[in-house]
Amino acid sequence: MERDLKTLISKMTLEEKASLCSGASFWYTKPVERLGIPAVMMTDGPHGLRKQVDESDHLGLNESVVAVCFPAACATASSFDTELMAKLGETLGNECQAENISILLGPAVNIKRSPLCGRNFEYMSEDPYLTGKMAAAYIRGVQSQNVGTSIKHFAANNQEFNRMSCSSEVSERALREIYLPGFEEAVKASQPKTIMCSYNKINGTYASENEWLLNKVLRDDWGFKGYVVTDWSAVADRVKGIKAGLDLEMPSSNGVNDAKIVAAVKDGTLDEKILDRTVERLLTVLYSYVDNRNPDAVFDRSADHEKAVDMAAECAVLLENNGVLPLKKDAKVAYIGSFAAVPRYQGGGSSHINPSKVTSALETAQAKNREITYVPAFSTEKDELLENGLENAIAAAKNAEVAVIFAGLPDSFESEGYDRKHMNLPKVQDKLIEAVAAVQPNTIVVLHNGSPVECPWAERVAAILEMYLGGQGVGEACDRLLWGECNPCGRLAETFPLRIQDTPSYLNFPGDGKKVHYAEGVYVGYRYYDSREMPVRWAFGHGLSYTKFEYSNLVLSANTMDDASKLTISVDVTNSGAVAGKEVVQLYVRDLNGTEGRPYKELKGFRKVALKPGETKTVSMEITARDLSYWVEELGDWYAPSGNYAVLVGHASDDIRLTAEVQFTTTKLLPLVVSMSTTFGELLKDPRTAPVMQQMMAKMGQGAVGAMMGSEDPSARAMAEAMLAGLPLKALVSFGAANPEQIEGLINTLNSVIA
Ligand code: BGC
Repeated sequence: MERDLKTLISKMTLEEKASLCSGASFWYTKPVERLGIPAVMMTDGPHGLRKQVDESDHLGLNESVVAVCFPAACATASSFDTELMAKLGETLGNECQAENISILLGPAVNIKRSPLCGRNFEYMSEDPYLTGKMAAAYIRGVQSQNVGTSIKHFAANNQEFNRMSCSSEVSERALREIYLPGFEEAVKASQPKTIMCSYNKINGTYASENEWLLNKVLRDDWGFKGYVVTDWSAVADRVKGIKAGLDLEMPSSNGVNDAKIVAAVKDGTLDEKILDRTVERLLTVLYSYVDNRNPDAVFDRSADHEKAVDMAAECAVLLENNGVLPLKKDAKVAYIGSFAAVPRYQGGGSSHINPSKVTSALETAQAKNREITYVPAFSTEKDELLENGLENAIAAAKNAEVAVIFAGLPDSFESEGYDRKHMNLPKVQDKLIEAVAAVQPNTIVVLHNGSPVECPWAERVAAILEMYLGGQGVGEACDRLLWGECNPCGRLAETFPLRIQDTPSYLNFPGDGKKVHYAEGVYVGYRYYDSREMPVRWAFGHGLSYTKFEYSNLVLSANTMDDASKLTISVDVTNSGAVAGKEVVQLYVRDLNGTEGRPYKELKGFRKVALKPGETKTVSMEITARDLSYWVEELGDWYAPSGNYAVLVGHASDDIRLTAEVQFTTTKLLPLVVSMSTTFGELLKDPRTAPVMQQMMAKMGQGAVGAMMGSEDPSARAMAEAMLAGLPLKALVSFGAANPEQIEGLINTLNSVIA
């Protein structure tokens, strides 16, 4: 149904319009009964419904209706499977229709700048490309059910410490390349109905009143059509916010801010047209739900539980395996650690779900009559051994053929609201793993955590299976993976560093509480470790399988590219092992032109492909000029210099199997204003000024450098070029090669060829 919203708005009083700009309560918008405008409900996400019908809160403290807890984003991102994300979205969208929820508050897509951010379990990745593709698929899924999403937290909200007031001090380049593209891709590909602005400031301005962020980048640059909602109570100056493009304040300010909007219109400081524009956005989204209710939707908790199990199995990452996994059917196995009976499957805070059912790995194994002994050994809540925990664990491990230790982080170690102080497991768990591995060579560690932990024992155990916070089906999924009913196919969406001290933001996280400096710039995650050639525990994209994959036949659709072209990259992948499995083909791009300040390589494509034993499939991916580019602040645009780029295809960021090169040509030119300080290097690199300089240099022709430039000896020429590159024009005067008037003349000529 097409609604005439402009006419509807023209019938509204100023007060009614302002009233729509904030919530009625924690989860509801305000109705305008006189005009038949209903109130609608929204609910947290992102990995299940936290629908509160009684006491409300934004920290997950009070009860919510029984729902299904799907794997958290730390896990779903590791699936590298956009279809899985879309299916998750679709399922959640249907649940929302059944529960009459108009907007699901998710996905959460902030970049994992440091492994210590308390909320990383809810976020996807350290990589913006992966984040964007996965978020777009999730949104597509939810919105296919005519339910809105709220991609959050926009933007540069990468820590919990002082999240409501701290300023993220970050360059535009790092924002455009690292912190924003996840949102950008989601907006361009899937148009989320709403976007949730974050609490923090960005370079001194609150996100909720950041004109550059909300009106310029989000709407003008990316074409966002929905409305912007605050994170819960993220408003600072309401009138400034509405002008900057913030539409809805949640939950509410009990009319205080609505009154400020009314007063601002009356005293002329706020143009009523800006308010009308906001109201139109709010009503457009509201009616897109109200007019498309699905009365037949049913929240089938048992069916959705099964989906949660299947998804958890697709997300888990097999980090190490010396062949001990999968377990043999009749193996005598000791399950050690309380997480076997009480899995940790979700994180704390606003995403906390009241699960319909949680089945542990232990229960599942018992139900399947597996030969298991069980020793709880340590607490799931504290860094504490249970009575005789260590001794019992060692004895059980000795008496079994295999020991599986169910390790993980207690709830209190990571949550919304605060950051971790270190990257360790509880000390007793590290100690127990070492002790068990010392007596049982077939020791397997299963991890339940929302973000990386240091694993000092990694080389002394036989296998490590990362289940992340896998949702309420994590125990059943874990059983299937351990015992070979499923083949692990997750890949790390984040690097596991060896130590927290190795992380790029280590010296600048989480800042002094007022400001946090993103001094590492674009060198986040593998972009940093790769560029520094640093060893890590497990690299971005890593993940093992019970089968093997071979790569062959890398083909590029062309050897050259320009600003407008699309390059298709295809590669054959073969399952050369004995069981069916899924490979995640990863495509990275690398600038070979020595351009300053570019990470060693960046992810620009991925595809998950299912292969039977012996089967080969051709996988194709596409890149454009944008994928080769970086953000140049002076240009205000994406830019890739003409030159050569490597296309790297493989199994993980540290396991590239095939490479090719493409030659790129651009017509874009970097801004250049020549002055006395401009160097020979800059002028010789720029196609506009290079000919003038070469001519000038040919005329000069003498002197030591000139002689070296003309030398037959390549190393002498290289030395001369290197020396010359850093020489500013003014140096010509001091070296007596030209007088100031001649240099002024040269500068004028150069500036005129640029213009
Ligand atoms: C969180 C949001 C959440 C909101 C409502 C805030 O504290 O940052 O992610 O959607 O509360 O619960």
